[in-house]
Amino acid sequence: MTILVTGVAGFIGSNFVYYYLNQHPDSEMIGLDSLTYAGNLDNLSNLTVEQKQRFHFIKGDINDKVLLEKIYSQYDLDGIINFAAESHVDRSIHDPQIFLKTNILGTQNLLHVFKEHYDEEKGHKFLQVSTDEVYGTLGPTGLFSETTPLDPHSPYSASKTSGDLIVKAYHDTYGLYTLTTRCSNNYGPYQFPEKLIPLMINNALHHKELPVYGDGKQVRDWLYVSDHCRAIDQVFECGLSGEVYNIGGNNERENILIVQSVLKILREKTGDSAINEGLIKHVKDRLGHDRRYGIDASKIKKEMGWEPQVSFEQGIVLTIDWYLNHQEWTKSVISGEYLDFYQKNYFQ
Ligand code: NAD
Ligand code: DAU
Repeated sequence: MTILVTGVAGFIGSNFVYYYLNQHPDSEMIGLDSLTYAGNLDNLSNLTVEQKQRFHFIKGDINDKVLLEKIYSQYDLDGIINFAAESHVDRSIHDPQIFLKTNILGTQNLLHVFKEHYDEEKGHKFLQVSTDEVYGTLGPTGLFSETTPLDPHSPYSASKTSGDLIVKAYHDTYGLYTLTTRCSNNYGPYQFPEKLIPLMINNALHHKELPVYGDGKQVRDWLYVSDHCRAIDQVFECGLSGEVYNIGGNNERENILIVQSVLKILREKTGDSAINEGLIKHVKDRLGHDRRYGIDASKIKKEMGWEPQVSFEQGIVLTIDWYLNHQEWTKSVISGEYLDFYQKNYFQ
C-alpha cells in the first residue's frame, strides 16, 4: 500500500506518520506539507532508519495541481488522507481568507487530482480529516451524531464544513470512494502552542498570564492524539464509501477545569509554587464562541470496535511530560508573528 498523506508536519499529521508507519510495516507513505507556521519538519525527526526508507517527504501546497500530478506520475498511490488545513479558530476570526483557500479549494484540488487517477478496482480511497465543529454548538444536553445538521459558526468551521460538502459532492457525483471523519479536540505531543493545552503549559512555565476566554465554562470533548490516529487508520481500512464517522473522547470538560488540572500537575512536577491559579486571567470571549461540543461516537464503535484507550488522566500527564522535555521545540516553533497575534488580541 502506498498512500499520500497531507499535513504531515503538523500536530495530528506528524503523530499519524509515526502511528501508520509503525502499524503497517509493508506500506509506504508520501508526506506532503507546505510548512506553514504550524508545520515543522523536526516533528518527523524521530522516525527510525527503516521508517525513513518508507517515508518520502515533499514540500508543497495541496492547491498545487502540477505538483500533485507529478506525485501521481512518480508513485502508484492507493489513496489520500487529507490532514492539511488551517486549523486555528482564533486565526480564522482574525484573517479568514487563507482558511477558505486551503480548507475548501485545497480539498477540491486534491479531490480533482484523485478523481483523475481513480481506479475503483484497485480500491482507491480518499479520507477527509474533519472536525466536530461543523455541527456548531450544543446546549447543556445532547451529543453530535453523524446526522446532526451542519451549522458552523466560525470561518474555520465554515471552511471545514465546505470541505466536507465538496467531498460529499465528489462521492455523489463521480462515485468516488470517500470517507470523512469528524473528531473532537485533540491533545498530545507536537501540538502548536497556540491551542489551549500547550498554550497554558508554556505560559505557566514562564509565569505568564493564562488567557481564559469569557467565563471559561465552555465545554470541549478531549481525545488523546494517538486514539485519533488509530481511529483514522481504522476508518481508512474499514469505512464504507460516502460515510461520515464521528470520533470523540467521551471526555467532556470545562476549559477552566482543564487549565486548573494543567496548573496542578505542572506545579507538582516542577515544584514551582509560582505556577498557580493567580496566573489565570479571564479575557474577552472569542467571537461566536461555541459553548459546548460533545460527540456520539457509537457508529465507529459499533462498526469497527474503536473506542478511546488513553484516559484524560493518563493523556494529560503524558502531554505535560512531553512539553517539559521539549521546551526547545516550543521555543523554536513560536514565531514573532504568533506572539504579535496574541499580544494584539489578548494582552493589550
Ligand atoms: P496543524 O495546524 O497542527 O497542522 C496543519 C498542517 O497542514 C501543517 O503542517 C501545515 O503546514 C499544513 N498545511 C497547511 N496548509 C497547507 C497547504 N495549503 N498545503 C499543504 N500543507 C498545508 O493542524 P492539526 O491540529 O494537526 O489538524 C490536522 C487536521 O485535523 C485538520 O484538518 C483539522 O481541521 C483536523 N482536526 C483537528 C483537531 C484538533 O483538535 N487539532 C480536531 C479535529 C480535526
Ligand atoms: O473540536 C475540534 C477542533 O478543536 C479542531 O477542529 C480545531 O482544529 C482545534 O483547533 C480545536 O478547536 P478549539 O477552538 O476548540 O481549540 P482551542 O485549543 O483553540 O480552544 C479550546 C477551548 O479553549 C475553546 O473553547 C477556546 C478556549 N481557549 C483557547 C485558547 C487558545 C481559551 O479559553 N483560551 C485560549 O488562550
